[in-house]
Amino acid sequence: MSLESTIGFTITDDAFSKFQKLLYKESGIKLGDQKKTMMVSRLSKRLRALEMTSFKDYYNYILEEGTEGEEFIQMLDLLSTNKTDFFREPIHFDFMTTQIIPELKYLKKIRIWSSACSSGEEPYSIAITLAEAFGTERWNAKVLASDLSTRVLAKARNGVYEKESVKDLNTIRLHKYFLKGKGEEGLGKVKIKKHLSEMVSFRRINLMGQTYPIKSPLDIIFCRNVMIYFDRPTQERLINNFYSYLKPNGYLFIGHSESLQWLDSPFTLIKPTIYQKKEMDVLT
Ligand SMILES: C[S@@+](CC[C@H](N)C(=O)[O-])C[C@H]1O[C@@H](n2cnc3c(N)ncnc32)[C@H](O)[C@@H]1O
Repeated sequence: MSLESTIGFTITDDAFSKFQKLLYKESGIKLGDQKKTMMVSRLSKRLRALEMTSFKDYYNYILEEGTEGEEFIQMLDLLSTNKTDFFREPIHFDFMTTQIIPELKYLKKIRIWSSACSSGEEPYSIAITLAEAFGTERWNAKVLASDLSTRVLAKARNGVYEKESVKDLNTIRLHKYFLKGKGEEGLGKVKIKKHLSEMVSFRRINLMGQTYPIKSPLDIIFCRNVMIYFDRPTQERLINNFYSYLKPNGYLFIGHSESLQWLDSPFTLIKPTIYQKKEMDVLT
């Protein structure tokens, strides 16, 4: 073992609290006091890479670069999780096929936002679901995919995945929507085909923002497996924000371990993790 990797770092309570506050303010992620050891172990490699000796220096470095900078994203990715999968939580894709797309058939127009899209498996699964449901019909369909982390967004835009990550997709889907990697570089990899990726656009959006750069009202918002990191006031603000970006009768999908039951929310629960925007009754 090299001498370098045996050097351990410690963090003062003051420095830890500064990191907690920064992460909360900029991303909404609430890092509990019990996460101190986890934080030290995950961020230590960044201190080593940057040849720094204290968390105080590392904190100041992040502040200097700002939250648009590379190091803030590195920190965010190390302290949160980007875990995702193609067709994760299939109930939502089934519900799109059986309920939502038939509801919108008369319009042949659909707008969807994958609001914490990580490396793109979620928005591409949405696009595959749409392509399969449309068949030979021509629809005006757009999927906006966003995340706070520019690193995962770059991967999502690229649309290149290890074969392992598509191992559960059936062969029809694999042939229709993925190209097989070629040459040394492409060995063991697949790439999303253009006709599918054209349906999806990517941009960096922080869910902590007061407003989002979205002009057309949405039919569906996917906000899955990110709210779990937020505290209740942040979740409440987010949910109310989502409400205003949805069309009347639009849907909100959340992650399997998340719930809005504790909240006096303006949404109606349709099925576990599926909520619908119901317009309020107007007094006449
Ligand atoms: C666990 S992944 C969820 C991916 C996908 N939605 C799914 O369920 O498979 C959580 C994602 O939320 C993103 N994230 C965390 N805080 C965010 C924020 N304030 N705004 C937007 N995205 C955020 C992270 O970068 C990460 O990619």
